[in-house]
Amino acid sequence: MSNVSLCHVNSVFVICILLFVFVKPNEAYSVKDFGARPDGRSDSTQAFKKAWAWACGSVKPVTLDVPYGRFMVRPMYFSGPCRNRIKLRMKGTIIGPSDYRVLARSSVWLMFYRVNRLTIDGGTLDARGQSFWACRRHFGYCYSGAQSISFVGCNNVVVRGLKSMNSQKSHMSLKSCNNIALTYLTLRAPSGSPNTDGINIQHSNRILIYGSVIKTGDDCIALGPGSRNTIIKRIACGPGHGISIGSMGNTLREDGVQNIIVSNVVFSKTTTGVRIKAWARRTNSFVRNITFRNIVMYNVYYPIIIDQKYCPHNQCPHQNSGVKISNVRYTNIRGTSRRKEAMQFICSPSTPCTGIQLQHIRLTFGNKPAVSTCSYARGTTRGVVYPRSCL
Ligand SMILES: *[C@@H]1O[C@H](CO)[C@@H](O)[C@H](O)[C@H]1NC(C)=O
Repeated sequence: MSNVSLCHVNSVFVICILLFVFVKPNEAYSVKDFGARPDGRSDSTQAFKKAWAWACGSVKPVTLDVPYGRFMVRPMYFSGPCRNRIKLRMKGTIIGPSDYRVLARSSVWLMFYRVNRLTIDGGTLDARGQSFWACRRHFGYCYSGAQSISFVGCNNVVVRGLKSMNSQKSHMSLKSCNNIALTYLTLRAPSGSPNTDGINIQHSNRILIYGSVIKTGDDCIALGPGSRNTIIKRIACGPGHGISIGSMGNTLREDGVQNIIVSNVVFSKTTTGVRIKAWARRTNSFVRNITFRNIVMYNVYYPIIIDQKYCPHNQCPHQNSGVKISNVRYTNIRGTSRRKEAMQFICSPSTPCTGIQLQHIRLTFGNKPAVSTCSYARGTTRGVVYPRSCL
């Protein structure tokens, strides 16, 4: 840096120190320094691209600020690998373009690709998905629709206190990532908005989702093939479709799901609570070592369900599901069911579920008795289990 040589001159030395300490102490810039405009209208995409290029190319750790205001950004890549740690410090809101088709033509709005050592702190994303959902309701074909924020091939990422509103499709997705902490998120879309999953995870290892509120139109959290060593804790889910493992059995050869803990979750008026779903198709896939514990359900349609004949739109393979489901523990789950069948284990005749453990379950159906139904499910029961176990 040229300031360094300047500092050899004694008289300017003090000023130099002051400049270093107070002006750019840890290499922080704002997206406004690169031309972004917080007026909710100007296109700030190029400014964000320049800002990312600076941050990603910096040899030193950097902070990139997104200050108060509304920044309109089109679909863009935040590509890595970068040269050092990056912190995205967000106070403002990033909004999608007013023409929904600009996002809908791309499958992802904000794509973090092969980025390591990133922290995203605070901020709001508003994809403004309303006209996209309206199009889907009325016309059918409206382009693919975009997920709001996606991490692909990323490692060591923390996303803390981010809000996402009105995503066109999923709010957030992780694919092929390791060591990711998603904490204190608020994800919101109306209950009737189609396919607005909260968080979608695939082929990822060591993921923590903690302390978050998810109100949306589809699954609050969906763990797909290849999800491993994941902890989901202290979540409020609803409205939405609950927390799902699956859909599994999409293909003949598929990575399974294993070592998952879902705990301290409240489901309010969701369609399902804790669900494992698989297509009725031949496959080598599996789901094993899963724990669901300390869960409260308020008016949930399917509080506890394993469904190996998953068939949402009647276009289904109609084979026996090959997904091997084993060692699934349900512990301390209570609350109210909206259907009589509060617990259902619909497993596969060719590949029965094994090692299902029920402990301290208390699910009621108004004043009427709740029941459990099983097919091809094996396991054990301990403590009070109501409805009575069919295992
Ligand atoms: C089951 O999963 C938990 C949570 O990820 C993990 O700590 C434990 O070691 C796993 N057990 C087995 C037998 O793999």
